[in-house]
Amino acid sequence: MTDPEERLALHHVSLTAPVLNLAVAENVLLYDSLKEKVFKNPEIGPEDIRYKRSYGTDELRQHIARLLKKTMSPVVEADDVYATAGVSGALECLAFALEQGKALKPGDRVLLPAPSWQGFKWCFEQRPGLQCVFAPLPVTGDNAFQLTLKALQDAYDKAKPHPKLLVLTNPNNPLGANYSKELLESIYTWALTKTEMHIISDEMYAHSQIAKSKPGFHSAFTLDACKQHQDRVHVVWGLAKDFGLSGFRTGFVLSRSALVRKAMRGGKGLKEMSWFSPLDSLKNVVVGKLFRTGEDKDAWYPEQLMRNVYPERLTKSYEAVKKALSKAGIPFLSNNADNAAQFFFLDLHKYLDKVPEEEGDDTWLRVFPEIDDREERLRAYLETEAQVQLLPGQTLFCPAPGYFRLCFTAYDQDKVVQAVDRIGAALNKLG
Ligand SMILES: Cc1ncc(COP(=O)(O)O)c(C=O)c1O
Repeated sequence: MTDPEERLALHHVSLTAPVLNLAVAENVLLYDSLKEKVFKNPEIGPEDIRYKRSYGTDELRQHIARLLKKTMSPVVEADDVYATAGVSGALECLAFALEQGKALKPGDRVLLPAPSWQGFKWCFEQRPGLQCVFAPLPVTGDNAFQLTLKALQDAYDKAKPHPKLLVLTNPNNPLGANYSKELLESIYTWALTKTEMHIISDEMYAHSQIAKSKPGFHSAFTLDACKQHQDRVHVVWGLAKDFGLSGFRTGFVLSRSALVRKAMRGGKGLKEMSWFSPLDSLKNVVVGKLFRTGEDKDAWYPEQLMRNVYPERLTKSYEAVKKALSKAGIPFLSNNADNAAQFFFLDLHKYLDKVPEEEGDDTWLRVFPEIDDREERLRAYLETEAQVQLLPGQTLFCPAPGYFRLCFTAYDQDKVVQAVDRIGAALNKLG
């Protein structure tokens, strides 16, 4: 099994002591609210058991456009929205749609900054047959872990043949950073006018904004650079992170490109792309109920959640965990501003050589034999010593070892704060 988050989940089953898994990107902050308003007695009527259109009913597509218009980008229309089974499915559908429209072909390269979410490799490589190449971010100096136009240009120039697709995650997983409008304008202008690349903006953490997130969030569709090139810019978003519905596997392709829309709708002997990873009827019941709640009122429930309830809870958890990290002296990347998304990226590189190797010790359980041995040893040390699971940065293509992703929304605030205290104590023991 290659998926690091799944590998850790499986590994957890074999552990004898309880370990808090903060490696996986999940969000429990809205469950109580959703339980009260949506999950109680969702009724399944006779119409609900029938096939539904795989890329979403008109009603659902209108609801998604209505929300995103208000919270992400005023230009999104229902016709731009195509539902899939998860954002992974949306990314894969986009790759296939671009291949079907001859904008890409198997073997073409996809340019991504490193670190990046590990799943992009499967979405683009496994079935569409594309090849991911990375622009490593600097790990030291004034620009440490900051995306720059130059880092992307260097990696683009180095890759021969040049990449045909650029993928940016905004806000970023694992760095938790929103990209500034200036940076995005410069990158999009370059990619859209000086290269042939299409761009996918993965905005699945768009609503995961701390009250003081700096810089603020800017969706790709709102950029000036995109106005003349709408056919080459595609956005993905879903319910896994912002709404905390990871197990529901509900994602959306947002695209105004004629060739993507054509492929997503099907026709002329071809099935619509989502037919293979559909939004099924059961999800339609629950997700439909979520988006119908309060739809006739000013306080439309999904909008209230995304605009008020979620940012407030996220900020509260973020502040509490940040305070605990600072108190325990655990360094994390912040670029002197408050992060967005659901992560702290811990900088534990100074502990890499401190975990003692016991003599004759080559039998310890390596969950990640492919990463730097010292990073894996530190992960295993924190698992046993602090009973906390963190995701090693090298599983996210981090260019240097010693960085770990902590998802602070995976459990409620008190549990995460206690886990941070335990990490602090375990690191202190290393000296
Ligand atoms: C940046 C990013 N894109 C896509 C996904 C996959 O989303 P889904 O679970 O909806 O397939 C994830 C999940 O962690 C992610 O972090």
